[in-house]
Amino acid sequence: MEWMRAFVTGGTGLLGNNLVRALTEKGWQVKALARSLSKADRLLRSLDVELVEGDMMDVDSWANRLSGCDVLFHTAAYFRETFRNGDHWTNLEKVNVIRTVRLFELAKLHGIGKIIHTSTNATIRKREDGRISDESDLLNPHETLNLYGKSKAIGDLAIEALARKHRISVVTIMPAWMFGPGDAAPTGSGQLVLNFLNRKLPGYFPSGIDVVDARDVASAMIGAAETAPGGERYIVSAYHKSLEELFRIMEQVSGVKSPTRKYPLPMVYMSTWLNERIASLRQKETDLSVGELRVMTEMKRTSSAKALKELQISFRPFEDTIRDSVEWHRIHTMAGNEGLNV
Ligand SMILES: NC(=O)c1ccc[n+]([C@@H]2O[C@H](COP(=O)([O-])OP(=O)(O)OC[C@H]3O[C@@H](n4cnc5c(N)ncnc54)[C@H](OP(=O)(O)O)[C@@H]3O)[C@@H](O)[C@H]2O)c1
Repeated sequence: MEWMRAFVTGGTGLLGNNLVRALTEKGWQVKALARSLSKADRLLRSLDVELVEGDMMDVDSWANRLSGCDVLFHTAAYFRETFRNGDHWTNLEKVNVIRTVRLFELAKLHGIGKIIHTSTNATIRKREDGRISDESDLLNPHETLNLYGKSKAIGDLAIEALARKHRISVVTIMPAWMFGPGDAAPTGSGQLVLNFLNRKLPGYFPSGIDVVDARDVASAMIGAAETAPGGERYIVSAYHKSLEELFRIMEQVSGVKSPTRKYPLPMVYMSTWLNERIASLRQKETDLSVGELRVMTEMKRTSSAKALKELQISFRPFEDTIRDSVEWHRIHTMAGNEGLNV
């Protein structure tokens, strides 16, 4: 069956706006959900896309706009735990679990034939024997490294149950840490690139994390819509990189010198914990939480073998990803420019 009409949630997000662009380039008709129409207009203005104003907190009020679409690509999520203080569980659970399940119920009612859901490889377990993890290595929600991961793991279980009960065709995409242009929020990766360009990073520490270009994840989602059977899940993860390697690429493509100081992990944990406490007292945001540090130092590797084989995707060199990301931030978010930050 050929699907050609898409509804994309999170149209203003790093993944969402790249997905909308890729879909329109492939000739799909696209409706995109956005909380802020002005932000969406700035990010998506050059594209032929119908904007739908709405909030995941109130899915019922805009769900009728799903009518007429074949595929729902769900990329919207609550995903700011790293930077903000306080207990985020209420919002994480509402957006990533309760309202997502409600959205999928309503999608079925409004005639959506297939849902491409975005989870994360944070729900995958690290194999103790050092082998690369795959889709069979699912974590239980209480085993995840932070509350965001927990909300995604609980959401995935709830979606699986819903899909089984109501015969909804859901394919789950599990991206690694995404980088790329169009990161208006910015997400953690965009903030890292900005901090690098602004020479705000004092050094690096022993680390290793799977990374991927958001545009390659978007391609995988379209591939999943076109070919994957409901019920399947796919890890989309291109390379395993340390911070030192990421900084080397950033230096290479930006001309900005990389920090050279290497900090031992115990010291980094101590100072991150302290920064978190201070930020919390001052009601400020922090660039790195202890939870995120655990993810960056876990050294977990996840395999995209299944996605590469079944979704006919490929991964661009990471130098291209960082180059495009640096260029995008220099034009859109750095000091002196008209920012997209809203
Ligand atoms: N970035 C990564 O490294 C990564 C890795 C693995 C999985 N993921 C998953 O990939 C998906 C896309 O993430 P991303 O990187 O594109 O993040 P992002 O840039 O922060 O985008 C999130 C999107 O969700 C929207 N959103 C958040 N809360 C909403 C609400 N209450 N109602 C409506 N829209 C809402 C945001 O809208 P606003 O623009 O209005 O804020 C934005 O469009 C998420 O499901 C995330 O969990 C991300």
